[in-house]
Amino acid sequence: MSFGVYIHIPYCIQRCSYCDFATYVQSEILPPSQYVDLLNEEIKQHSFFQPQPLDTIYFGGGTPSLIEASLIVSLISALEKRGFVRSPEAEVTIEINPATVDERKLEVYLQHGINRFSVGAQTFDDQLLKRVKREHNAEQTLQTLRLLKKYNLNFSFDILFALPSQTKDGLNRDLEIAVELGAKHISPYCLTVPSGHPLSKARPSDEDQVEMFNLIREKLEDFGYVQYEISNFSLPGFESRHNNLYWSDDEYWGLGLSAHSYSRESSWGTRFWNPSNIGSYQALIQSHSGKIYERPDQSLDASHFEILKSNQSLTDLCHTFLRRSLGLSPAVVERKFGARVLRSVETRLTKLRERELLHFDGGHWRLTSQGRLMSNLVFEELTFLEPV
Ligand SMILES: C[S@@+](CC[C@H](N)C(=O)[O-])C[C@H]1O[C@@H](n2cnc3c(N)ncnc32)[C@H](O)[C@@H]1O
Ligand code: SF4
Repeated sequence: MSFGVYIHIPYCIQRCSYCDFATYVQSEILPPSQYVDLLNEEIKQHSFFQPQPLDTIYFGGGTPSLIEASLIVSLISALEKRGFVRSPEAEVTIEINPATVDERKLEVYLQHGINRFSVGAQTFDDQLLKRVKREHNAEQTLQTLRLLKKYNLNFSFDILFALPSQTKDGLNRDLEIAVELGAKHISPYCLTVPSGHPLSKARPSDEDQVEMFNLIREKLEDFGYVQYEISNFSLPGFESRHNNLYWSDDEYWGLGLSAHSYSRESSWGTRFWNPSNIGSYQALIQSHSGKIYERPDQSLDASHFEILKSNQSLTDLCHTFLRRSLGLSPAVVERKFGARVLRSVETRLTKLRERELLHFDGGHWRLTSQGRLMSNLVFEELTFLEPV
């Protein structure tokens, strides 16, 4: 079992019209140093998790690289003071936007053990970057990359696809550049916008989007990448260990605006999450100042935590494990839910195998390539509505 911490940094240079994450432009909310004070306070207020080694830390956003590096690394020390010391091989990731990191910032990150960089490249096509109103251009991504390569660092790319007017050739070029630049990990995201949104026009059709995803898979597999999760690819050994926490029934602690946590406390586990509005988050932390809470239901109102029932926990386990190429082993289900529940899960899994959406190799159930494309359907069939 692993344990990790997610820390949300909600500042951005601009608010991208397509983005649903809890973020603000810097001038709209409290200064970063005050936000980091709130995070420090939050770290002190919670004793939901016993002090234990951290296998992963993930600074996500937003744009964590926008704020002073000293503020970011101070949070690592704050966790250590509370007894959450990084294990020797810990993975410490920060999301960085092109043109927001210089050598000085990078050196502070490195001195404090940040060892993985997730770069929001999106596309290397300047016209498309302009179309989706990104602040950066492809040359700035390359400059950021040159800096990371100078230090021989482990980095990942976020790539957006199915953008308005984007062609398969254009996507192919983006993938080739990403691979050539040496990304060890690539997360392709299919642009999602509500109908009527300005970016919903002139987009590739649904069939083209499926073809684009197939192109991504084939191309990256040709280059030696493994699709270790439905929408994440990496060279062998460079899977995101933090992502894997979310898909392996491991516990994680989310700090900051809108951050989600999962604890195995209570029979079937508890999920809890912070408000996604900055005013509400600030009020919450300030109202708890100086106190220590042992359980999320003591500090959060009922709309911010969920004590899972057995069927919800089983549904989560099936969905998250099947997202991974590693798949779902009967032993995992049996260990947590017993032999009777395993039998009823296997009945459903077998039906999905008959429809060629899953296969079983004797040890693990896995999505077939058809199943990966129709994963929503698979997950619907593996949603348990009554306590098991
Ligand atoms: C938490 S965001 C932060 C990354 C960074 N701030 C950036 O924008 O480069 C992580 C990724 O989500 C993806 N994303 C954001 N909004 C999206 C949307 N509406 N549809 C698909 N992907 C989206 C982008 O590719 C982005 O890099
Ligand atoms: S920079 Fe990234 S996190 Fe910020 S608004 Fe744009 S997509 Fe969202």
